Amino acid sequence: MNVLGIESSCDETGVALVSVDEGGDLPRLRAQALHSQVEMHQAYGGVVPELASRDHIRRVLPLLQSVLDEAGAGRRDVDVVAYTRGPGLAGALLVGAGTAAALATALDRPLLGVHHLEGHLLSPFLSADPPSFPFVALLVSGGHTQLMRVDGVGRYELLGETIDDAAGEAFDKSAKLMGLGYPGGPALARCAEGGRADAFALPRPLLHSGDLDFSFSGLKTAVLTQVRKLPDPLPEAVRADLAAATQAAIVEVLVKKAMAAVAASGLDRLVVAGGVGANRELRRQLDERCRRRGVRVHYPELALCTDNGAMIALAAAMRLQAGLAVPTRDGAFEVLPRWPLGQA
Ligand code: KG4
Ligand code: ZN
Repeated sequence: MNVLGIESSCDETGVALVSVDEGGDLPRLRAQALHSQVEMHQAYGGVVPELASRDHIRRVLPLLQSVLDEAGAGRRDVDVVAYTRGPGLAGALLVGAGTAAALATALDRPLLGVHHLEGHLLSPFLSADPPSFPFVALLVSGGHTQLMRVDGVGRYELLGETIDDAAGEAFDKSAKLMGLGYPGGPALARCAEGGRADAFALPRPLLHSGDLDFSFSGLKTAVLTQVRKLPDPLPEAVRADLAAATQAAIVEVLVKKAMAAVAASGLDRLVVAGGVGANRELRRQLDERCRRRGVRVHYPELALCTDNGAMIALAAAMRLQAGLAVPTRDGAFEVLPRWPLGQA
């Protein structure tokens, strides 16, 4: 069975085809294609929703064609069409959903809406070192920071989450304050490479709260306070120090809470997913802590950390395998810009 996935929740148009066999083996990625709108939004310092939607419309069909070409497949070889149903930007989501519904109707195939975060959460199953259930998941994207206990496909228990900004947002907003480009996470991480993390004392919000929740908005305010005290424009070396200090604060909180969640759950497996999961310093510290504690840690391939179509096709395929998916055949579709994973 071939499952096509279309992702268009934010500023990346992703299309991919995965195959599933009868035997219950993990789905296999046949081909994927991605267009990032980063350059287009850069001039505005962030995502402009209307421009995002218009660009998804332009990109989605050529990407679909290149995926089918790469897989050596035709449209008729698509057995199920999946799309990101939410959460995300309403207009952007509608492009992927509308395209998927039109395709499914034209081909007379079932249509399946997928939760974007479930895609992130399951994306390590496409890596060379896939996890097995149960595990603790640290989901760190631009819009979400959550710790979850995952006992199987569709069996997600929220252990803790951010009470304000997400970790990715903390990276992005701090980067903006430092005059670094958009998206801020990768730019700040690159800038931090030459800096001294101890040059600035920044807060570690909720580090000792005793629960598994996060808070990052105070960190952004602390960065703003520092920037106001510093010369404008920021000298390169000072900016590198501030970037390193900011990254260290975010990473320390994520690592400490993730390890606390692992300890509390009694599990010995951690899965990291979402765009911030691409951060090298986060990976370095998690690797070290997990090695010391005898915990296996799994990451998606670097290219599958940020938004992509492969994770949507994969999540749809795994839901179908688990007998959890309820595909539709009437051409109707909906998008849910706000959609808690627990209700998926
Ligand atoms: O998962 P994702 O692509 O989109 C959402 O679903 O939100 O995550 C995007 C977030 C952005 O905040 C971006 O700055 C951050 O992931 N990010 C990083 C890195 N790469 C992406 N943050 C820190 N270090 C990175 N290397
Ligand atoms: Zn995402």
